[in-house]
Amino acid sequence: MSTETLNKLIARHDASPHALVQILREAQVLQGWLPRETLGQIAQALGLTLAHVQGVAGFYRFLHTRPVGSYRVLFSNNITDRMLGVDALMRDLCQRLGVTRAQVRADGRVSVDLASCTGLCDQGPALLVNHHHVVTRLSPGRIEHLAALIEDQVPPSLWPAEWSRVDDQIQLADVKLGPQPAPGEALGAAMARGPQGMLDELKRAKLRGRGGAGYPTATKWELCRNAPGQMHYVVCNADEGEPGTFKDRVLLTSYADAVIEGMTIAAWVTGARRGLIYLRGEYRYLLEHLHAVLERRRAQRLLGHGIRGHAGFDFSIDIHVGAGAYVCGEESALIESLEGKRGTPRIRPPFPVECGYLGQPTIVNNVETYCAAAWIAEHGAAAWTASGTAASSGTKIHSVSGDCARPGVYEYPFGVSVQQILDDCGAVDAQAVQVGGPSGLCLAAHEFGRRIGFEDVPSAGAFMVFDASRDMFEVARGFAHFFAHESCGFCTPCRVGTQLIVRRMDKLAAGLGSVFDERELRELDAVLHGSTHCGLGATAANPLRDTLARCAAA
Ligand SMILES: Cc1cc2nc3c(=O)[nH]c(=O)nc-3n(C[C@H](O)[C@H](O)[C@H](O)COP(=O)(O)O)c2cc1C
Ligand code: SF4
Repeated sequence: MSTETLNKLIARHDASPHALVQILREAQVLQGWLPRETLGQIAQALGLTLAHVQGVAGFYRFLHTRPVGSYRVLFSNNITDRMLGVDALMRDLCQRLGVTRAQVRADGRVSVDLASCTGLCDQGPALLVNHHHVVTRLSPGRIEHLAALIEDQVPPSLWPAEWSRVDDQIQLADVKLGPQPAPGEALGAAMARGPQGMLDELKRAKLRGRGGAGYPTATKWELCRNAPGQMHYVVCNADEGEPGTFKDRVLLTSYADAVIEGMTIAAWVTGARRGLIYLRGEYRYLLEHLHAVLERRRAQRLLGHGIRGHAGFDFSIDIHVGAGAYVCGEESALIESLEGKRGTPRIRPPFPVECGYLGQPTIVNNVETYCAAAWIAEHGAAAWTASGTAASSGTKIHSVSGDCARPGVYEYPFGVSVQQILDDCGAVDAQAVQVGGPSGLCLAAHEFGRRIGFEDVPSAGAFMVFDASRDMFEVARGFAHFFAHESCGFCTPCRVGTQLIVRRMDKLAAGLGSVFDERELRELDAVLHGSTHCGLGATAANPLRDTLARCAAA
């Protein structure tokens, strides 16, 4: 890449060190990987040290400081992809192309590897090519054709369009996935209520965040609104990295207006003038679509200056594309990443509502939470609390995958039983369901009467079904590998503990385990739960704990 091209790229980002991750990502698109000289040029232009830039580039899995293949193929490694045969498909592709996994072929043409869940579990097995192009519904025939296209050096943009088709697969809609109002309607309703009136409505609705922890949304917005700062920020967490979760993909694809409307309502309430959508790298293919929606909304005066003709109501939104790090879904790590740094979770307090992006008051909410806020603005709290339970009002969208006839997204009022979802998705002979992803709960058949909601089975959205043919120890072992792979390494209990769990579980899987290993696993579970710096480490032993409980019960 010429210096001129790189300088233009950097200038487009105002030579801001906070744009470092975006600059690295875009520089890599232009030259395939990030040689030391490029990192040095970027460091100099941004006034950073080379060591800092190398540290950031080295943190993200989608940034490469060594040459990779011109075609970089990444197979989704979620358990649901494996259940659909991804391992055999990857072996087949490697064999056809004469390439060893995780190595670049001698001619530099291609490399093949695994990636954590790509968020396409309802239409897997899936893969990503050069982080831009998705291929869904892989089959032996598709792999054979794909190998030929790579050998013939056909660019992915010219591959059969059908391969990159991503369907919404909405199997059951309630309010959020139902018919949508015209853009601006919900915002108009929020503005008519006034900022305080909208906040009061959210309080009455008892809306809780849909990203996992279930923090009351009105409290978060009020704390941010009241926090002193030169600038307030509204951030949409579209990192959706929890394996088995893909509901935000559907919302961003077909309900982007509702998401952005919710963010704009948050700006109205908190006084924020700038918003940021943190889009996971695996959803890079949605970037142009989201830019088009933002552009249209600017033209409709639903973003920009004087929104809906209200002088002084100014709000704009930018999109930051992630670069392959699950931990960046954690809100403080996400903010670090937005600031152009490694995605290391921050020490809290202070919380982002007081000291978030660039040290300013910031709210971070899940994609679905913003859709819910927009719906409440338009229809009111009473309509929202008419469904759900006392502690969990309204509806929740579930990403259903695994052993069932009808995978896809399902929207239910909170309080629905696990059995009801199993019946609706056509699950036969289910022995277990992983609710909320690997960091959630694994429920056995005798628990299928339990209900989804913060008071019983909380969920960030994943619902993975396993029938009686599945080895649940293997499922838990796969999740243990996931956490060890995704640990950011900042704190010792998580960095070392997740590796030790993997080693012990691998040993047990090889038939070499003993009672001693089981005791050690229980100790590791206790250590991780009590001593890690962020939620990733704290929940990393959950699959193990559920498996041990099942072993004890058996
Ligand atoms: C390791 C880790 C990963 C997370 N990933 C996500 C994510 O992908 N999306 C999300 O909304 N929240 C995620 N969270 C939760 C966020 O930290 C935060 O609680 C959430 O975005 C707040 O939004 P809400 O109040 O609307 O739920 C994650 C948390 C942890 C510990
Ligand atoms: S718990 Fe794990 S992911 Fe979280 S900060 Fe510590 S090492 Fe990083």
